[in-house]
Amino acid sequence: MLVVTAISAKGGSGKTTLIQMLASAMLARGRRVHVMDADADKQILEWESKSARADFGDLPRLPWPTGLTVVDAPETVEGLYHALDSFEAEGVDLVLIDTRPGEHPDTETLALACDMILVPAVPVQSDFVAALKTLTWVMRMIETLGPDDPAPLFSAVLMNADKRAIDFVTAGDDLERDAARSRVHRQDLEVFEVISTLPLLPTPVPHLAAIQRMPLTGPLGYVRDIYEQDLRHRLQAGHLSSALALCSEILGDIEAVVDAANG
Ligand SMILES: Nc1ncnc2c1ncn2[C@@H]1O[C@H](COP(=O)(O)OP(=O)(O)O)[C@@H](O)[C@H]1O
Ligand SMILES: [Mg+2]
Repeated sequence: MLVVTAISAKGGSGKTTLIQMLASAMLARGRRVHVMDADADKQILEWESKSARADFGDLPRLPWPTGLTVVDAPETVEGLYHALDSFEAEGVDLVLIDTRPGEHPDTETLALACDMILVPAVPVQSDFVAALKTLTWVMRMIETLGPDDPAPLFSAVLMNADKRAIDFVTAGDDLERDAARSRVHRQDLEVFEVISTLPLLPTPVPHLAAIQRMPLTGPLGYVRDIYEQDLRHRLQAGHLSSALALCSEILGDIEAVVDAANG
């Protein structure tokens, strides 16, 4: 069982989106996903009811994925570890923890119980400063652990990025980097330079309409299956499949990092 959280000192950075992307990817594999919603706005707890109000035109609605369960995050440390033990025993494959913005002690408790902490980094000035702050916070909380405590892994994720940011950050060599740099506005350059130095997952997340709509429609595979019922909607179904493939890559990145750390 893999346990992953998304944390950020700032709201609106993409925590909930990352959690919903990973849930979508694991559900599409036919596996079991459990989400603990510790976010103040309870977006994921309300995911199913919001989706029930989504407009799919005349398309028949499909049953909500049975592999997905969502609860409020436990309030005590004992409750948290007890819950994780029960999920493991029940055969849950992925536990995802969505958190509220800000450096709260209860968020630290949740984060330290995970295999992997994700910090979304949006390549705009205000957000990347928050990502730096969040990564510093993560390193500080890991330092509080004893030498025998299992420490979570952590990584930033380039989130909601446009093509220029992605080209810059993923440039393979100096030549590619120079070409990408020539297309970047001067005021963005500092942001992109600093983001390139962060520990980032290899797969960046571009801005995608299918991802933006996901909180209102449901897990990507579920929505794709609804659209695939009718050929008139094959374009939407295609966009959803591409978004899902991206989520699957991100999940694969995380699994690779965790596997490498476990030898
Ligand atoms: N890759 C993306 N593509 C499209 N929209 C995105 C993407 N990442 C984030 N967003 C949008 O940014 C906004 C904030 O994201 P959200 O996940 O709610 O942030 P947080 O949980 O950190 O407050 C939402 O409207 C979300 O749909
Ligand atoms: Mg959120």
